[in-house]
Amino acid sequence: MSPQPQKAVGSPLSRVDGRLKVTGKAAYAVDHDIPGAVHAVVVDSSIALGRITGIDTSAAEACPGVLKVITHRNAPRLVYRDNPVSNNPRGRRLRVFQDDQVLFFGQPVAAVVATTLEAAQHAASLVEVSYEARQPTTDLAGRPGNPLLNYARGDAEAALASAEVRLDREFHLARNHHNPIEPHATIARWDGDKLTLWDKTQYVIGTQNEAAAVFGIPVENVRVISPFVGGAFGTGLRTWPHVAIAALAAREVGRPVKLALSRRQMYFTVGYRPRYEYKLRLGADRQGRVTAMAHEPTYETSNHETFWEATLFLGQMLYNVPNVSQTLRTVSLDVNTPLWMRGPGFSSTSFCIEVAMDELAHELGIDPVELRLRNEPTRDLSTGQPFSTRRLRECFRVGAREFGWDRRNPKPRSTRDGDWLIGTGVATGCYDTNRARAEAHARLDANGTAVVQSAASDAGPGTYTSMTQVAADALGLAVREVEFRLGDTLMPPAPPQGASQLMASVGSAVQDTCDKLRQQAISLAVGDRRSPLHGVNPDDVVVIGGRLQVKDQPARGETYRQLLARNNLTHLEANGLYNPEAESPYSMYAYSAVFAEVGVDVNLGLVRVRRMLSVYDAGRIISPKLADSQAVGGMVGGIGMALLEHTVTDHRDGRIVNANLADYLVPVNADIRDLRAIYLDGDDRKADPIGVKGLGELVKVGVAPAIANAVFHATGRRVHELPITAEALL
Ligand code: MOS
Repeated sequence: MSPQPQKAVGSPLSRVDGRLKVTGKAAYAVDHDIPGAVHAVVVDSSIALGRITGIDTSAAEACPGVLKVITHRNAPRLVYRDNPVSNNPRGRRLRVFQDDQVLFFGQPVAAVVATTLEAAQHAASLVEVSYEARQPTTDLAGRPGNPLLNYARGDAEAALASAEVRLDREFHLARNHHNPIEPHATIARWDGDKLTLWDKTQYVIGTQNEAAAVFGIPVENVRVISPFVGGAFGTGLRTWPHVAIAALAAREVGRPVKLALSRRQMYFTVGYRPRYEYKLRLGADRQGRVTAMAHEPTYETSNHETFWEATLFLGQMLYNVPNVSQTLRTVSLDVNTPLWMRGPGFSSTSFCIEVAMDELAHELGIDPVELRLRNEPTRDLSTGQPFSTRRLRECFRVGAREFGWDRRNPKPRSTRDGDWLIGTGVATGCYDTNRARAEAHARLDANGTAVVQSAASDAGPGTYTSMTQVAADALGLAVREVEFRLGDTLMPPAPPQGASQLMASVGSAVQDTCDKLRQQAISLAVGDRRSPLHGVNPDDVVVIGGRLQVKDQPARGETYRQLLARNNLTHLEANGLYNPEAESPYSMYAYSAVFAEVGVDVNLGLVRVRRMLSVYDAGRIISPKLADSQAVGGMVGGIGMALLEHTVTDHRDGRIVNANLADYLVPVNADIRDLRAIYLDGDDRKADPIGVKGLGELVKVGVAPAIANAVFHATGRRVHELPITAEALL
């Protein structure tokens, strides 16, 4: 098969769905206009632990327009089959309205269904719930936790004891909430025993499987539709209880039901990045070679489920450390269950490791970039495997040059600009290259245009665009002649849009599918006596601009349209897939070097990120303009994590006190100055057929520690806590 010229891939296209989005024509979950739909509003608990002793629904039921108030007293029993597909953590998931128990603050305890949203909201405010409350435990601090995972190589304790330099640190990382602009929302409609959900999700197949499991119906009886997602950052990777509530309500009232969580409910009934306490001991020699690391991370989870995230990988593979020990613990609390958020696991872990590396560099008087280069491994010490590609040295070299790192005076508190202390910092970013089985379907119509589809999601990174680019090149069509569709369980299955795996997985499936379709057309032409390509070796044919032609003899050929018309074909179609091997011989990660410059106001302790540069080793970049959006978004998210984001719980009653976007601080335009991304020109075919290593999560990792290290350089103050607040710097 002759390789296709790559024209669309690598070109800086704007979003193919951009016009729909900016003109308000893109239908997000609750935007879908479903005839006869009524509205449900969730009533949530005002205690964090205990049981419901009474619910008075009479005032709510008396409101005009109210169709039903559903509580555990009148709700039917639901099946809640085990479900291994939908990213439910280990444990027993919350079962809506099945008993009188309250497990966390804000747990749904009732739902009001009414003909208008306003009626449902008003009636919900009239539902009176009484409780027998017990004192909840919601504070991670000082709790020993339950060991979840261990790892050891070499003898970390002995190596620490004999190390020339030792660090012993404890880090505290705040809980963060995802806060996408679009809140979680679902529309549920039953047609007999078949359920259709229009849902905000990063994983339509996950939602489909969970809904089927909750109601005990066959998976194929559930269809999930989710063409647009207004940001998610991980919160859409699991199916939260409101989806079951919407479907239950729809069944109870015999009408389609729309349910959107309020902004406040987005802090209580869906996941969050867990709070961490992380003990890290590090031993090194005077040349800066790290000889030992002992990691003891602890994060919060709920009492009903044990959350897992990738907390141990970085400590095992990032640097050439012969002696490593790790114990990951979870603390079970009377809280809702966390969920993966923006570089899950890696973002939190990298803060601790990369701040410690900066401290080591400072202590030894070694440049922080040089220190990292001295600890570059030649293979993955956790598996013994070679890296598919690892160009971290190059990331640092290019980054240092472009950032002007050499001009840095290493002495902390040495640079001032008026009231501002200026500092620069650096950190490594890294995230694993995940791949999963994915399928796609493509159809080429007689008019020479194509439709390609896969049940993927696009929560913002630009999947519509990047998949269109891959498909266009494989089919030899212009981008405008290809339409990519996603977000419907009727389409061929795709993995979640999460863990940086979608481009590698669905992109490879799309390429395979379109390759097959192109080959079909080529076979048809070379076997067709009336075709100018008759008798040509199929391997010598390429398709350019919708025209099949001999590679070295472009004048000889014909268009798809001519070929299909002459053969009286309305279309050609093909199915394809990507099915990665279960065990790869390679260790696959994407890398970055993150450089930050901050100013810290000497009087106020305010931190401003003045500029940031990240250099990425992420394999092939399919869609440079959207990659840039992703990178800038990751840096903005990292600024949030470093300086602003902090979910605050009142441990007296388990209430989150800043459950709104006024009090939960995120970066705004005034916080964002000069953010720049550079991509090493890469192509990692050991990772996957389209050569990508994933970008979505990587862009977030390493940002917070680069900022923290810059704050130290500016002020001489080392902060081991996130977010870094003004108070900590005064
Ligand atoms: Mo990502 S946190 O897996 O959406």
